[in-house]
Amino acid sequence: MNLPNNIVFCQNISLDLRTFFAEHQCSKIAVLVDNNTKSLCYPLVQSAIPEHVLIEINSGEEQKNLNTCQQIWNELTVNAFDRKSLFVNIGGGVIGDMGGFCAATYKRGIDFINIPTTLLAQVDASIGGKLGIDFQNFKNHLGVFQNPLKVFLDSSFFSTLDAAELRSGYAEIIKHCLIQDEEKFNEIEQISYDKLDFSELTKHSVDLKNKVVLEDPTEKGLRKILNFGHTIGHAIESFYLDKPAKKLLHGEAVGIGMICESFLSTKKLELEELSLDRITDYLLKIYNCNPIPETDIEEIIQLTRQDKKNEGDKIKSSLLNHIGNCGFNIEIDHQDITASIEYFNHKSNHYTK
Ligand code: GLY
Repeated sequence: MNLPNNIVFCQNISLDLRTFFAEHQCSKIAVLVDNNTKSLCYPLVQSAIPEHVLIEINSGEEQKNLNTCQQIWNELTVNAFDRKSLFVNIGGGVIGDMGGFCAATYKRGIDFINIPTTLLAQVDASIGGKLGIDFQNFKNHLGVFQNPLKVFLDSSFFSTLDAAELRSGYAEIIKHCLIQDEEKFNEIEQISYDKLDFSELTKHSVDLKNKVVLEDPTEKGLRKILNFGHTIGHAIESFYLDKPAKKLLHGEAVGIGMICESFLSTKKLELEELSLDRITDYLLKIYNCNPIPETDIEEIIQLTRQDKKNEGDKIKSSLLNHIGNCGFNIEIDHQDITASIEYFNHKSNHYTK
């Protein structure tokens, strides 16, 4: 495995943090947490971080907006943080994306480190330097690319997650297998979910994602494969974001997105029907996917128009050539998306666990 040198796989995160702070000079330190990570995760590292200002925000994707950024920038400003300050993100994808964005833009950028505490953030969000916030219901609409100084990965944080959140993070691991590693997909497909080794799978995903990101750091081409399942998945997630009764976790939405986009892979590329069946069955087994009401489909399609991979009016997606190999820049249209959601609805209606 060829892991990047800004990623630390921790056996003892306190020790690794003490070593880092002993070697790294900074004028002031801010630590960003949300109400969950403040009580569950911050106590595990608090004493290893030198004197700092604690900034607490409310948890949840709906906080990932300009208002919360203003709160964060304001804390840095009133506490007179200068450009030699360090920003520490302790939390999941929202904290990492938004805290990193605030750090990367404050006084044109201060250093930051990530302590991702969810499986989702460890295998995806905290690797690759994508930072940003949502804007007017569009996911990650405002943002920049900037790498953290260090990312500290510790699987002991997974015990702070509820079952649904862990499962949500697993969607990105499945995605990494589907786009780049057929053998690994064959392997996880045979293991019962309860027996999965998330620590080992995290290393596998980080290694794989890192290779892609190193080749195309700012997503001019290849990196788009990391968006498999996300053209439709993000639109579904965004659509239900402000509908509490139906809100989906990121991985749940991406699970649906991967089923829809695997269906489209059989129409637009060479993915075999047998592979589509395997992918669909596996994802339906892992995720509790309810069908998408027909009345919601049109608005979901409109949301795919904001996807960052699009070019002009064309919706561009990343689809599978076969399990373990993904293409990108494949044009799909309104009818394709409708057909793919209808396929998903049909399968989820008939699936019995
Ligand atoms: N989450 C996709 C990427 O980092 O490119």
